[in-house]
Amino acid sequence: KKKHKAAVIGSGNWGSVAAKLVASNTLNLDSFHDEVRMWVFEETLPNDPDLEHAVEDANMLVFVTPHQFIEGICKRLVGKIKGDVEEISLIKGMEVKTGGPCMISSLINKQLGVNCCVLMGANIGDEIAMEKFSEATIGYREDKEVAQRWVQIFGTPYFRVSAVSCIEGVELCGTLKNVVAIAAGFVDGLEMGNNAKAAIMRIGLNEMKAFSKLMFPSVCDNTFLESCGIADLIITCLGGSNRKVADAFARSGGKRSFHELETELLQGQKLQGVKTTGEVYEVLCQREWQQSFPLFQTVHVICTGHLPPSAITQQRLYEN
Ligand code: NAD
Ligand code: 13P
Repeated sequence: KKKHKAAVIGSGNWGSVAAKLVASNTLNLDSFHDEVRMWVFEETLPNDPDLEHAVEDANMLVFVTPHQFIEGICKRLVGKIKGDVEEISLIKGMEVKTGGPCMISSLINKQLGVNCCVLMGANIGDEIAMEKFSEATIGYREDKEVAQRWVQIFGTPYFRVSAVSCIEGVELCGTLKNVVAIAAGFVDGLEMGNNAKAAIMRIGLNEMKAFSKLMFPSVCDNTFLESCGIADLIITCLGGSNRKVADAFARSGGKRSFHELETELLQGQKLQGVKTTGEVYEVLCQREWQQSFPLFQTVHVICTGHLPPSAITQQRLYEN
């Protein structure tokens, strides 16, 4: 008997590729239904009924939308999903409320009452679509068996997935690397060279680690050496969309808006890093951590136009 049915919520760049990975596996696994529904956001009919239709009868839900939309999607799903559902988030980002930050997997968990795993890694969608080799990390909280099921439905010979129990570390790596990618884009746009970019990546990794451990002291050092950590940081700083837009912003001398550059350069993909930079900065202010995170703070100040992009290598960054 087929026990499991997967559905994918989201159809952007990564969402489409994730759906292909899942569907190619469920087709060959006896305990899974062949059909995998994918929810496509309908730009002209925002409240279309397809979301409910996509999750109907599904008990393995994959969330993969730009992070700013997930709260509204979860609200629509309350009461619409099966009781024994398992969930995974591929979404890199966080929400910050007056009460503090909330990781996307926790938001899904809180709104839908289900334990949610995460999958993060060095995963530029375009390359995986062409079945070029890459790795990913699944973070889970308690249930290793559930995590293994996710490994089974995502893993292929060209997409190697491993699971670790440090869910907060995995999700924070995926989230915070987007801030460092913006800094790397500034360095590229100003043609400061590869040494400077490597320095920004080193400083960024240190801040990612320090921030994650302050938020969740249980975060493991080893998580930063998984695909979700160092590898995702490298790829996003070399070839990601955040890097691309920040590069153009710096080349314009900070004159062009991120929104305009996102529309012009990303072909419908959403820019995540600038929003995340603002959210991380809000946490720094809420917790009075600004002094410990000069890179994160400087990226925010540049993004909001209070310093020029060249401030990215100001002396203070090298004093930690
Ligand atoms: P994307 O940036 O391509 O997203 C655009 C999608 O958002 C489109 O399908 C659009 O229709 C939809 N959309 C627009 N307005 C919406 C709304 N109001 N509500 C719901 N949907 C709306 O998306 P993506 O690349 O699939 O990224 C999803 C997540 O995966 C992000 O958190 C991203 O950081 C992460 N990620 C992306 C990649 C990648 O290579 N693109 C790789 C790894 C992780
Ligand atoms: P960008 O979001 O910078 O495009 O990077 C994609 C990604 O998350 C790679 O893993």
